[in-house]
Amino acid sequence: MTARNSLNLRPVDPASLDAVAALEASASPEAWTRKALSDSLNAGHRGFMLCNDEGQPLAHCMLSVVLDECELLIIAVVPEHRRQGLARTLLTQLIQGEFAQHQWFLEVRASNSAARELYQKLGFESCGLRRAYYPGLNSPQREDAILMRRLPTMHTKGSDPSAYAGV
Ligand SMILES: CC(C)(COP(=O)(O)OP(=O)(O)OC[C@H]1O[C@@H](n2cnc3c(N)ncnc32)[C@H](O)[C@@H]1OP(=O)(O)O)[C@@H](O)C(=O)NCCC(=O)NCCS
Repeated sequence: MTARNSLNLRPVDPASLDAVAALEASASPEAWTRKALSDSLNAGHRGFMLCNDEGQPLAHCMLSVVLDECELLIIAVVPEHRRQGLARTLLTQLIQGEFAQHQWFLEVRASNSAARELYQKLGFESCGLRRAYYPGLNSPQREDAILMRRLPTMHTKGSDPSAYAGV
């Protein structure tokens, strides 16, 4: 059984920062600290989370929104709830909801095949490359960033997230 059916989308606010920071710490070797998350909110970025019935965040993301452009800064799902559609659900709710008229951008490690496949299924397309952008994770060799873009839903062909089974 997945947690997806009983999840609520909520904005990240200062009161939820401890829980989101704990999620981050569990989710990524490049986790944002509580301070980084707090600074991001204070800079005007928008955080969103999917919470279970107890209010515990299982997935979260941070967006930088400027006019009609929306940049996905981070997204993470707790390891024990991955491959249950949580990242897809979180992003789809935002892409179809408040940010449906926005052009979306993001950067992703070339080796992060899980994230790249997720983004492609949601209608993102590669639009650039930053060579040796990221420090190496398990090696001294730096890694490329793939830039991806998603046009507003009304302009995309064959990438309507609602057509994606399970959403
Ligand atoms: C990337 C991440 C957010 C995906 O979250 P998730 O909730 O497990 O993803 P979903 O279950 O919504 O998966 C949606 C689709 O993405 C792709 N996908 C997700 N995880 C995958 C994996 N490990 N391998 C291959 N494809 C994967 C699949 O196409 C999947 O659809 P399917 O399950 O029907 O095959 C999660 O793995 C994570 O938190 N990773 C660590 C942080 C990170 O890398 N963030 C991205 C930085 S750019």
